[in-house]
Formats: sequence, structure tokens, C-alpha cells
Amino acid sequence: MLLALCACLLAGVQSHAIDLLPTFGDIDHIHLPALLVQHADGDQSLQLRPQDTTYINNPQYTETVIKTKDLVQPFYVTIHVRQWKAVEMTETWYDISHTEKRPVRLQRYDSGYLPIEGDNPYLLHLHGNWAAEGVPTVEPLTRGVKSIRNSDGARNAHLDAPEVMIALDGVPQENYGRVLGAALCWSGNFELRVAATDEKGFHFYAGIDPMASEYVLEPKKVFSTPHLAYTWSNEGMGGVSRAFHRWARTCGMLHNGNATRDILLNSWEGIYFDITEERILAMMNDIASFGGELFVMDDGWFGGKYQRNSDNAALGDWVVDTRKLPNGLKALTDAAKARHIKFGIWIEPEATNTLSEFYEKHPDWVLQERNRELKLGRGGTQLVLDMTNPKVQDFVFNLVDTLLTNNPEISYIKWDANASIQNCGSPYLASLSPSLWGRAGERLSNLYVDYHLGLVKTLERIRAKYPNVVIQNCASGGGRANYGLMPYFDEFWVSDNNDALQRVYIQWGTSYFFPSNAMAQHIGGSPYLMTGRTTPIKFRCDVAMSGRLGMELQPAHMTDEERAQCTVAFADYKELRPLIQLGNLYRLVSPYSLPCGEGRGEVAAQRVASLMYVSDTKDHAVLFAYGLSSFMKQSSRRIRLAGLDPDRTYTLHERNVRVQPPYSLPLGEGRGEVSALDGKSFTGAYLMSVGLDIPLSTEYNIDYPSRIFELK
Ligand code: DGJ
Repeated sequence: MLLALCACLLAGVQSHAIDLLPTFGDIDHIHLPALLVQHADGDQSLQLRPQDTTYINNPQYTETVIKTKDLVQPFYVTIHVRQWKAVEMTETWYDISHTEKRPVRLQRYDSGYLPIEGDNPYLLHLHGNWAAEGVPTVEPLTRGVKSIRNSDGARNAHLDAPEVMIALDGVPQENYGRVLGAALCWSGNFELRVAATDEKGFHFYAGIDPMASEYVLEPKKVFSTPHLAYTWSNEGMGGVSRAFHRWARTCGMLHNGNATRDILLNSWEGIYFDITEERILAMMNDIASFGGELFVMDDGWFGGKYQRNSDNAALGDWVVDTRKLPNGLKALTDAAKARHIKFGIWIEPEATNTLSEFYEKHPDWVLQERNRELKLGRGGTQLVLDMTNPKVQDFVFNLVDTLLTNNPEISYIKWDANASIQNCGSPYLASLSPSLWGRAGERLSNLYVDYHLGLVKTLERIRAKYPNVVIQNCASGGGRANYGLMPYFDEFWVSDNNDALQRVYIQWGTSYFFPSNAMAQHIGGSPYLMTGRTTPIKFRCDVAMSGRLGMELQPAHMTDEERAQCTVAFADYKELRPLIQLGNLYRLVSPYSLPCGEGRGEVAAQRVASLMYVSDTKDHAVLFAYGLSSFMKQSSRRIRLAGLDPDRTYTLHERNVRVQPPYSLPLGEGRGEVSALDGKSFTGAYLMSVGLDIPLSTEYNIDYPSRIFELK
């Protein structure tokens, strides 16, 4: 279908570029412009005509490259359409350049445009916020223009996210139906528009949000828009998700995409800023004793003149606080080695606090508006660095480089970003020569874009030197879960909310576009600090085990039962890890009822949620089932599986079995209560058409029951 679509688009482009790139000055009344520019002489029209078309046949993809030129001005756009071979995914983007006498202003510069025809199209988009990411809204597409945008400046997956699905024939279904999925590969401000401007259908446009971002493009420079990736499936939302996951893993859109990730303990919710060598060593002992593989020291380890005892000081002063860690990082990396685990560390490189030696030394290296009072973020003191400035880019690179050179045993970095761009001015962009730009400060409107180009340039340098260090992308939780940054990161922090019940929902929405080996899912404490909810340790483990497993609590506060359950969970997870982290995801029973939100994204809770992963060869699978609420005498629910080979017989093995007293380690055979399904065999056809009656609440007699079954 996509091939046909592209073929038709390419045929259309022979004389006219409108089908691939509607431009202002060349569109009919049913299109909106995807590209609108103001030429050096003030003219705003653009009539692009193809000059030359080439085809690239790469082992991994084919790419059509169409060079176009305006009929009047020396203004050029090269249109790229790349189709991946191993996965149903197309990427489009435009390279924009000119040789006009003065800079041209790009007033709208989308990455791609798609016509959409469907009898009853529905839109799915994700909305989220701190501690409540990935909430789907599913709504019918109606007349008018639907705009989804994000203006945070630095992060773009809190509030509205740059990915959508469009189902053509009514409410999107999980495993059947025609669905288009699209993601703008960009981490800054964006706008996705779906416009109904004629009788026949809809038009989808995606790109950088031009609001406050008219891009000033110098003669002979090339501006490449971010890529727009889109896929098509007849297998519903699940088919779209699997295409995105495969593309991320195999087409370079997730760093080391085909590798599995370690089980870790992160110090944040266990000790917050109260870091001491003693506490860190004790946490390392604990994670090692459970069978974990990595310890990550979060915020609070650095600071000189200003101490990092809260979020109001010391960002930018990346020296070890020897009052907390008298023997430095070496003592910690040595200790990790002695415990046969790896060591990771937290940084927030793009930020500083007014209370920092960095800010005292470089007040002009932060984003700020000339002659206006600074707006301060987290802690009442946080500021964002001016990543458009090459000197600041060097500073960020050197911070990482120095940390890793001095401590070669650091194998993991958590890269955080906890501030929006509130001060919309760049001393660096303002300083660029007015004689070149005609008027001082003309390039300030490039800030929102150049910030991200500067960030990506820095990340590219870091990756060139450190390809094997695992780097987590974190932004107050999942604020930067997007395909603009994912190529430089191995995983992302899904949410600061580790309440297992809410995680079922957050992870569900996030999985629409992102693969499980990228999704950091941690076992939190109970009662959970944010929600006060008490959940059984097995439920917390089972929820975290459906992605990249970790812990986010103080092990010193764990009960014997919790310790025993985590030890079992880690051991089982290691065996299931390739399947969970690299398998094909089938979401079976949604915790949401769709359409949901009635345009507002509210949670419409279901009683059960279930998902599974299946190996490529369909000989191995793992099923997760979660009870979300329990009532007396409720019947358990049949869950129909998906993605299996109908002719194959599968035997069920229950995993992460609930431990029972006594909890002394090691836990041998017969360690807990196994359901009656354990050891039973069924054909794939039976499992997919009749389904399984998963024993949830009835046998446990507890809230939040859950089960994991391996199928072989
Ligand atoms: C926000 C992150 O999301 C948390 O996990 C933690 O790293 C804090 N920042 C530390 O300040």
C-alpha cells in the first residue's frame, strides 16, 4: 500500500511537486502549505519544479531523491523518500537551500505531507505529563484542522507527543484494521496537523512548529528538516507498533537497538540527594545479591563550593562532592567491580543553577532574553544552557569525555533534562555579526531549532568516541521519548511514576511507538511515595518485567518477601530477557477502553490488562496478565493470545511464581504457588481463538494479582 502511495506520489511529481510538498504560492484551495518561505526580496511564493531524480539502492533501503527548484528564485529543495527493506517504514525529509542575496526566512518548514482517505478515520495521539506519560486519546477526525503541538522548547513528549496513528475505518483496533502510524523524529517544538479541507479526505502535515521559530537561512547553507517516519498496517495498532519497534531496533533509530539491557538499581527514590559512600556501597551489595547487573548513582553526587543537597544548586559543577564521597568515584567503580556489577552515573549536562560556580563563571552561557529578568525553573534557580553556542557544546562534550576518561569503568550514563526553555534568547545567536545578517539579532528566531541541532551535534561527538557506553535518555521521566534523540540513546526513562498500577497504563501508551528494550521500567516501593498505593511485590515485579527491568527503591527497607520475590524475578527475567526485550509485542487486553478520553485523554479503566511477546520464529512467547481491580465473585477473564503459529503446540510454564514463606534464600523448587495452567499444552489455534482463562484474583485473594507464563 505504501509503495503504491509513493509510486503515485512520485508519478505526480514529474511536473509538479505538490503531491510530495505543497508550497505556498503553488497550492490549490484544498491544501495547506507544508513549506512557506519569505525570499530575500520579500516575495513569499514558491513554485518548485523537479530538476533531477535519482534512486539510491542501499542494502538496507531504497531512496528516491528529487531535486527541485523554484520557477523564479534561486531557491532549491531536495525531497527525500527513503523506504526501508526489512520493515514497512518510509522516511521523508527535505533539504532546503538557496543562493539568494540575503538570508531567506523559513516561515513553515514541515518534514512531510500525506493525503489520507478513509471512510471513518480516527486519530490516536498521546498526551502526558510529569508522572503520567503516554495517555492515549482516540477521537474521530472531523472537519477543520486538528493541530497537535508542543512548545516546551527543550523536551517534547510531556503534554503532546510527536507520534500519531490514524485508523481509516473507525475506532482503531489492536490486532486488525487499516492503520497509519507516523513519528516526527525531532526533540524540539513540533506541530502535527490533520486538515479536512475537501470532501474526499484528510491531509496530514508534520514538522517543526514555526511559532517563534522563523528560521533564518543563510545563502548556500543547507537546512535539513527532521525526518518524518511513517508506516502502514492491516494488523491494527499492533502492526504499526511492531513496525516502529523493528525500525527502531534495526534501522539505527535506537542506539545499539538489537542489544539487550542490564537489570539495574537506580539510587534516586531510595536515597534522593542523601548520597554517602556507605549508602551507595550498601545499595550495590543489595542489587548484586538479588542478581542485578548494574548500579546507577543518581542526582546528588557532585558539587564544590555549592553542594547538591537539593535541586536548587550545583548543576554545571561536575566535580565529585568529596564531603559525601571522600574516596571519589574510583572507590565506587572498584566496589562495583568487586561485586561483579557495572556502575552508572547521573548527569544533567544542558542545565545549571544560579547557585553554581559554573554560572558565576559563565553567565553568558545560559539562555536569556536581553535586558529581561531571568525566568527560573526547578528549585527556583535552574537555567538551560545555550546549546546553540559551540563553546557550550564543547563544555557538554568535555563533561562527558572527562567523566569517562577519568573513570573508564563507568558503563552507563543517565542523561537528564529537567527544564523547559523559558528564556527565549541566546547570547550566542544575538552576537552573530549584524553586518552579515542585516539587522542585529535577526537569527534569534533560530533558537528553538538551533538548540536541538547543537544538542544532536554534541551527542554525535559523544557517540563517535563512546559507542558502547549505555546512555539513558531522561527528562523528568519520559519527557524526551522521541525518535529525534533515540538514535543516540540506548533507552529512556519511561516515567518518574513507579506506581505499578499506573505504570501498566503509562507503559501501554508508550509501547505504541517505542520498543521494550528502550523502556526503563523499575520496581518501586510500596506503599508508593507518590500515590500512597500498596501493591504486592509480585505485581510490581511483573509490571516492570515487561520492559527493561530495574529497581527504584531503598533495598534496606525491603521485607524478606520482597527480597525473595525480586531474586526470583531477576533470575527468570534473565532467561526471558531476549524474548521480552527483542520479541514482537502483541497487546491483548487494553487497560483503556477505546475510544477513550472523548478528546480529553481521561483514563477509562478496565479490570484486566494483558500483553505478550513472541519470537520471530514463533516458537517461544511470554504472556503477562495483570488484574487491575478485584471484586468478590468476579469471574476471571478469557484472554485470547495473538501472533502464535496456529499449528504449533505450546506448553505453558509459569514464571516469577509468587514466593511463599519461609523466604530464606536460595529459593529452590516448589518455591511458590503455581497456577493450574502450569505445564498444560495447547495449540496456537486454540490459544488465539478460544484463549486462556487466566487465574487472577480468585486464587490469590489479594489486590493486584498478576501472572507471567512462558510458552514453548
Ligand atoms: C528527574 C528524573 O526523572 C529522576 O529520575 C531523577 O533522576 C531526578 N530528575 C533527579 O534530579
